[in-house]
Amino acid sequence: MYRIRQFIWALFAKFTKEDEAFVNAYLNEYEQELFKKLKESEKVHSVRVAKEVINRSVDENLYDIRLIKAALLHDIGKIDGGLNIINKSIITILNKLFPKALKKLYKIKFIRVYYEHPEIAVTYLDNYDDYTKFLIKNHHNYHINDKKLRILQEVDCNN
Ligand SMILES: [Fe+2]
Ligand SMILES: [Fe+2]
Repeated sequence: MYRIRQFIWALFAKFTKEDEAFVNAYLNEYEQELFKKLKESEKVHSVRVAKEVINRSVDENLYDIRLIKAALLHDIGKIDGGLNIINKSIITILNKLFPKALKKLYKIKFIRVYYEHPEIAVTYLDNYDDYTKFLIKNHHNYHINDKKLRILQEVDCNN
């Protein structure tokens, strides 16, 4: 049910001028260019994640500009990935049902990107500080214990 809501929401997501101003306040020019290459629904998702990450990190006394940048940029590995709302929803469901079978289809670009977008993302951020890269690279790795990473992961899953 939750997936369906997420799918419908993604279809109608609209990136506003206000969102753009928010993004530009946190990202430098290079990062803004990367961000612009995201699909509309991914942009809206990233802004929602970043705003909620700000609130939660302030509440928990963990505010960190690197965490906010990571929240805005966490999915940039999907740029050029051939993932769209439809095939992404399908693989999300297939991944739940038949994870092993799906991994065998790695040669198909959008399937590879689905799994590897965190690693792909950091290739755009070569000379970035290690902690920002750590947050982005591990945003789907739920075995690591890091309080700021945990905030990003929880907010990401709910948006
Ligand atoms: Fe992601
Ligand atoms: Fe995400």
